[in-house]
Amino acid sequence: MKQRAYTVRLFEYDQPEELPEEQQKLVERAIEAAKSAYAPYSGYHVGAAALLDNGETISGSNQENAAYPSGLCAERVAIFYAGARYPGIRVKSIAIAAMREGTFQEEPVAPCGGCRQVLYEKETQGKAPMEVILYGSKKIQVIKQVADLLPLPFKFESL
Ligand code: THU
Repeated sequence: MKQRAYTVRLFEYDQPEELPEEQQKLVERAIEAAKSAYAPYSGYHVGAAALLDNGETISGSNQENAAYPSGLCAERVAIFYAGARYPGIRVKSIAIAAMREGTFQEEPVAPCGGCRQVLYEKETQGKAPMEVILYGSKKIQVIKQVADLLPLPFKFESL
């Protein structure tokens, strides 16, 4: 029997101003995007902004529906739109911000399992790490690659 352990390395900051300018701007775009969420059922507004290798930034917000499972998370809206608008272009980093009743969450909000799977595949296609920036008004966490957030991913090769 072998035992294995996975480690998640997080880089924590107290405020966006401590981040490099590129990351700061991406966080601002995610914050802005959260304001466009359509979330009348959960009241939970999420924004995601993806920085592409061609310099473009694509943002998205969660979009809900009266038939609940038909909605989509902010991260997937952004990543799928990036793929539709700029096929084959790598996503270098993604920032995520969430608010409830007009107030941003103090603690960073990490992507759900389904979104991690989608982010992982995008990272794999890009053949380089995709940085994940999680915004909270009292703490910001940076994860250097999506693979750290999804230790046992379902892979294309598994099909
Ligand atoms: N949501 C996101 O947009 N991203 C996540 O990673 C987790 C949850 C959305 C889905 C739903 O519209 C609302 O937040 C409450 O779950």
